[in-house]
Amino acid sequence: MSRIAIYPGSFDPPTRGHEDLIRRALGMFDRLIVAVAVNPNKEPLFSVEERLQLLRDALGPEPRIELASFSGLLADFARSRDSTIVLRGLRAVSDFEYEFQMAMMNRRLHGALETVFLVPAVDLTYLSSSLIREAARFGANVDGLVHPAVADALRNKFPA
Ligand code: PNS
Repeated sequence: MSRIAIYPGSFDPPTRGHEDLIRRALGMFDRLIVAVAVNPNKEPLFSVEERLQLLRDALGPEPRIELASFSGLLADFARSRDSTIVLRGLRAVSDFEYEFQMAMMNRRLHGALETVFLVPAVDLTYLSSSLIREAARFGANVDGLVHPAVADALRNKFPA
């Protein structure tokens, strides 16, 4: 039986932290669906299509990774993809409360859904998409924290 995990997120934009988690997950699961959430309450910097392209650029060709987007509940998306594993990253204690609530709610909505938490490489623990967006918005160099394609896309969004 092949183990298919879903890694959901906003990925606005994808960071080296996301990439790190994805590489680690490939060591644990047969297939990984990286799923960009369409959130009508958020005004993202990058469109869903742009985020999917940035993930494609950052991850390169990897037959065991599928890139997808979903709207609505993650539990319904997991059901539709026959997956019972959700992968999430835990960077610090501050992530825990929100992640714990989400895992519990997802299990309530889909009784078989398990959430697996992975921690990123220690030098990436402080990274978040929102910090990257803010740094780039004010002209900071984010090379090394994101894939070069993402750095280019941020420079296009925030020309000097
Ligand atoms: O990268 P993020 O913004 O922390 O990802 C959060 C995400 C997209 C995984 C979460 O908001 C989500 O699953 N949204 C879909 C709606 C849903 O199922 N919410 C949780 C139960 S109500």
